Amino acid sequence: MTQNKKLFIKTYGCQMNVYDSERMAEALGSEGYVETKTPDDADMILLNTCHIREKAAEKIYSELGRYKGFKAQNPDLKIGVAGCVAQAEGAEIMRRQPMVDLVVGPQSYHRLPALEAKVRAGEKALDTDFPEEDKFEHLKARPKAKRAPSAFLTVQEGCDKFCAFCVVPYTRGAEVSRPADRVLTEARDLVARGVREITLLGQNVNAYHGAGSGGSWTLAKLIWALNDVEGLERIRFTTSHPNDMTDELIEAHGNCPKLMPYLHLPVQSGSDKILKRMNRSHTTESYLDVVARLRAARPDILLSGDFIVGFPEETEEDFQATLDLIKAVEYGQAYSFKYSTRPGTPAAERPQLQEEVKSERLQRLQALLSEQQKNIQLSMVGREVKVLLEKPGRLEGQMVGKSQYLHAVHVTGSGGNIGDIVRARVLNSEKNSLGGACVE
Ligand code: 5AD
Ligand code: SF4
Repeated sequence: MTQNKKLFIKTYGCQMNVYDSERMAEALGSEGYVETKTPDDADMILLNTCHIREKAAEKIYSELGRYKGFKAQNPDLKIGVAGCVAQAEGAEIMRRQPMVDLVVGPQSYHRLPALEAKVRAGEKALDTDFPEEDKFEHLKARPKAKRAPSAFLTVQEGCDKFCAFCVVPYTRGAEVSRPADRVLTEARDLVARGVREITLLGQNVNAYHGAGSGGSWTLAKLIWALNDVEGLERIRFTTSHPNDMTDELIEAHGNCPKLMPYLHLPVQSGSDKILKRMNRSHTTESYLDVVARLRAARPDILLSGDFIVGFPEETEEDFQATLDLIKAVEYGQAYSFKYSTRPGTPAAERPQLQEEVKSERLQRLQALLSEQQKNIQLSMVGREVKVLLEKPGRLEGQMVGKSQYLHAVHVTGSGGNIGDIVRARVLNSEKNSLGGACVE
């Protein structure tokens, strides 16, 4: 094994990919790779791709084109494509970009060392199977490496919901939950390496049903078990489906001390007609009911959402219903998108709205969401928050961290260290962050 080959990973998309990239770096670490921040001197370039945005595959093909020159300069350079575009395109990637050596889908990362050996031997390697085994079991983290105070931990992957716009059920496959004891072991390991906050990840995280003692565990049960992990201070989870917000999970938001008062709960549309066409299997009423019950359990919970405008057949009236729902909920944070077709999904086959209509609606929607975010941030001014310090700020003596509501907070006078949780009074609100001073 040659030591210290350089690995450059470019990560696209969601937190799940950020987590997977870390695991891939660790798996290849045991093959003698160290990560490098630029592709210039890399021995392997890995693109960890995301398929959720429009023309994702085309963008990856053009990105690959940029690396042609690198390969000419360094014939030993290996180029790989991982993630959801790899899963969706498979061998087509090597056909269109013959310089690609490796194509690996999200379910096969634990086989990376063997795949790497194959490409080193000058062969092409393709692995986009959906195996039964738990890939994370094989992707053992290097034991003692220190970690940043906030970490992601994947507990569930894939989705069985088949929203009409979404590629996830096709690229990440059916919903699979990791066994509870493995999640708890990984959490304890993270804490031993300096982690204080864990965000449980899954495309449909609140559908979690991992095997555990006494039968299948719910997400709420897992959260309560994590609450007992000494040294762990904060628990979060994302992304949730409204239909899987059970009473037990809502109750945990009220009573579980380490579960943070923040929830990302995508609704996509405020029109029941559109929700039906989207195959969302919830209504605006059931969504608002979940929100009301969450707020009854935890009045200060900050809600975040995802919205799609311009879905096929969305009228101005349907769009207004989405604005009404946003006004009723009041989001502290949100992501919004124009609907765009994903090949192979049902909605892609339907007649599409005009681009100008989508753009104009997105503008109005984002204006409302920005206004709400601003008002909620302003309402924080004067309040005391608890900030988990993550890194030094730009100014002398300043540190940056996250409040319990996931606001980025720049704090002065902390005298604290990375990983500390300090009390701070919020003094001002910027576009996407708060400023504050530590309270003695
Ligand atoms: N068009 C626009 N937005 C989409 N999303 C998923 N698929 C599409 C699509 N085809 C958005 C949804 C989802 C978020 C991760 O991305 O809002 O919740
Ligand atoms: Fe995609 Fe989420 Fe719908 Fe599953 S629930 S199909 S991941 S949008």
